[in-house]
Amino acid sequence: MKAAERLTVALGGRSYDIVLGRGLIAEAGALLTPVIRCRRAVIVTDAHVAPLHLAPFAAALSVAGIEHRAIVLPPGEATKDFVHFAKLCEDILALGIERATPIVALGGGVVGDIAGFAAASLLRGLDLVQVPTTLLAQVDSSVGGKTAIDTSHGKNLVGAFHQPRLVIADIDVLATLPRRELLAGYAEVAKYGLIRDRSFFAWLEENGAALIAGDAAARQQAVRQSCAAKAAIVAADERESGERALLNFGHTFGHALEAATGFGEKLLHGEAVALGMQLAFDLSARLGFCRPEAAARLRRHFAAIGLPTSPAGIAGGTLAAQTLLTHMQKDKKVAQGRVTLILARDIGDAFVCRDVTPATLASFLAAALERGQNSLETARGGA
Ligand code: GLY
Repeated sequence: MKAAERLTVALGGRSYDIVLGRGLIAEAGALLTPVIRCRRAVIVTDAHVAPLHLAPFAAALSVAGIEHRAIVLPPGEATKDFVHFAKLCEDILALGIERATPIVALGGGVVGDIAGFAAASLLRGLDLVQVPTTLLAQVDSSVGGKTAIDTSHGKNLVGAFHQPRLVIADIDVLATLPRRELLAGYAEVAKYGLIRDRSFFAWLEENGAALIAGDAAARQQAVRQSCAAKAAIVAADERESGERALLNFGHTFGHALEAATGFGEKLLHGEAVALGMQLAFDLSARLGFCRPEAAARLRRHFAAIGLPTSPAGIAGGTLAAQTLLTHMQKDKKVAQGRVTLILARDIGDAFVCRDVTPATLASFLAAALERGQNSLETARGGA
């Protein structure tokens, strides 16, 4: 078995390591011991993850002499609301915590976001350890300190930057993920290649199928490269005043698609990001920033991997361009009424663009939905 690897997110006194490798859940106690200040931890997880990973994780803490209590949340994005957040805070307080008590988020992006925000808020800030159990959380949401809950006005609108003390990414837990979840996480992996690493994207074109099929070495390499890219970006721009905005590639379109489909099973976050990144390339080509072949290359790869390639069939084909635009205009990154978009000059070369007018966006979205609908009808007619 390959030894665990360590990457550092260099943030001065708030620097921390990402440990990645196989069999790390069993090592969790030994990994936590040097970074926690109190030998009583609160584990926050959800009802999907608990039956799979809570017992071995808790056993590993016990072996290292770390006392622990677990709180099990309902699974799904709907848990990231004020009601569940308030209950989580009350439940953690009811355990009799102190300022040095660490909160351990054992789960995917939802658990990491809500437990992280509770850690940021309780007693004005508790230590946080992220133990991401999905590919999406391992390569994106567990690293970088973004924590949040959703509101009726949109996703992640109430939250805080709160860096963890440690991230433990056990590659073996990915074996328990449903294929759809794995693919959704793969979109965030591809994002790193698309925004600034053309050779990583080429590597994914070669190795993506093996990664999805279960090749642990390919999974570890993809998680390592993704985390290294994210660590470098976060170290350079923790609060997103510059380069970190590139990590939102595909997300403004993606959040609008998620909002329009009710933030649920119809469209997972990673699937929405996959579609959003293709729309970003299509718009870049339409505006003359990149060659249409770059957009076609991305769509070919996602089709080969099994990610969705058109928003048209989603929500039974009822999506309207104006609905998407309205959701995009509620984005956190709107400045003076202009949506902040991440566009691309080529695979591996993304940039921030605030020059696209609402009218241009509206006509682009209408054309994208119509084109998708036509190709769906052709495919159905031809079947
Ligand atoms: N997921 C985007 C970021 O962490 O900045």
